Amino acid sequence: MEKEMVVVLDFGGQYNQLIARRVRECNVYCEIHPHTMDIEKLRAMQPKGIILTGGPNSVYKEDSPSYSPELFSMGIPVMGICYGSQLMAHLLGGRVATAPVSEYGRTQVEIDAPDSLLFEGVSPQTICWMSHTDYIAQAPEGFRITAHTADCPVAAMENKERGLYATQFHPEVMHTAEGQKMLSDFVYRVCGCRGDWQMASFVDTTVAALKERIGDGRVLCALSGGVDSSVAAVLLSKAVGKQLTCVFVDHGLLRKNEGDEVEAVFGPNGPYNLNFIRVNAQERFYEKLAGVIEPEQKRKIIGAEFINVFEEEAKKIGAVDFLVQGTIYPDVIESGLGKSATIKSHHNVGGLPDHVDFKEIVEPLRMLFKDEVRKAGLELGIPENLVYRQPFPGPGLGIRIIGEVTAEKVHIVQDADAIYREELHKAGVDGSLGQYFAALTNMRSVGVMGDERTYDYAVALRAVNTSDFMTAEASEIPWSVLQTVMNRIINEVKGVNRVMYDLTSKPPGTIEFE
Ligand code: XMP
Repeated sequence: MEKEMVVVLDFGGQYNQLIARRVRECNVYCEIHPHTMDIEKLRAMQPKGIILTGGPNSVYKEDSPSYSPELFSMGIPVMGICYGSQLMAHLLGGRVATAPVSEYGRTQVEIDAPDSLLFEGVSPQTICWMSHTDYIAQAPEGFRITAHTADCPVAAMENKERGLYATQFHPEVMHTAEGQKMLSDFVYRVCGCRGDWQMASFVDTTVAALKERIGDGRVLCALSGGVDSSVAAVLLSKAVGKQLTCVFVDHGLLRKNEGDEVEAVFGPNGPYNLNFIRVNAQERFYEKLAGVIEPEQKRKIIGAEFINVFEEEAKKIGAVDFLVQGTIYPDVIESGLGKSATIKSHHNVGGLPDHVDFKEIVEPLRMLFKDEVRKAGLELGIPENLVYRQPFPGPGLGIRIIGEVTAEKVHIVQDADAIYREELHKAGVDGSLGQYFAALTNMRSVGVMGDERTYDYAVALRAVNTSDFMTAEASEIPWSVLQTVMNRIINEVKGVNRVMYDLTSKPPGTIEFE
């Protein structure tokens, strides 16, 4: 049977991999390729459809990424999103200009063509996610405008005969209410895909490929106990068993009791057949972080020290053939390894040990989003409590303590966070949240406790709804639960006299504070 594939051509936007993942959710295999890919190579892949992504440039500028206009005459349906839509308009004789009014975030889109294959059954007024400063001022000849907004005359356009579709908004992000329907209509109704690809096959294919690639080689993995490195480690242990050694560096920036919990699962008394080494390196990290307040510097110090500790352990083990990284897609994109802007230097991406003797890197999760990693984890038979464990950043509490990190502050945030998590669990709301944690602000304020003046820290509580961690909204936690948490933190955690709840969405905020 012919293998169905949709190709995403990458023009450097923040949400590119999300598009691929939405297509995969339609059970259609999808690959992302750079916009520099040769058109003949593209044609030879025989994709059922092509999607052009967003990107930070202006199509009318000289050196902006472009593509051969022949793309639109290959008889393969094309969908342009944001920059991709503008490029389609620009290359086919329409006009793209700076929009008089930029649109960012939720925007009401009016559907002008309810008979469009993309919009049939979509509400006449539908909320979409916009993020653009340019717009299509005039659609190319032969195109009809299928949607508009108050500030954007061409929010969507199409040339049905040629199979060309374009949306200024981003159907791939969760905040576009009916976006998944639009993408699935493109994949099924426009491209004519059948949808017979399964995510489940990822695990079998990956384990088999790892077995073959590694053979009888020795493998080393930095295990953090988080979902990503745990799934990566179990994938590897399924493939090569005792050939795998996992090193767990406790950097003293973990959540309360987490080090012991990780050891209980992956250590010698746990269910997995792997070699496990725990390194207690708390003091070293606190020393390196003394006096440092700048977030990127903190991230870099933690990342570098992590590698130092890891290298020292690796040296004791001796030469290995492969080094495993639990890198997942959002780490790759947000660290600016693609063409997207650098938002944060993610610990565990890019930062590779210089002095570990290994031949190759294995990154089995590099193309997956967090929820896809979880699905893979369940496929692998990893217990649910571990699979649904909250994501935790590599630099740990170091980036949840604003300003200087000290052992005292670590204890404060650990205790506050443990209370917050416990109460959310008790109230039964934790399961519905994407990520939630307490952070320690660098703010001190005056309070009164037991008739005494206090001058103590403020804890910020954060909880967001997100499935992809690229965009997020603050969760609505019941007031009574927040109040219980506030009471307990102030009563039980010394050094805190104020508790705040963070309402910021992403963008413009990020999920973590630093
Ligand atoms: P932000 O704060 O960038 O976070 O909105 C998005 C997701 O990434 C996690 N995060 C990290 N994960 N290393 C990681 O492995 C890091 O350096 C890092 N920084 C942020 C964050 O917890 C959230 O889930």
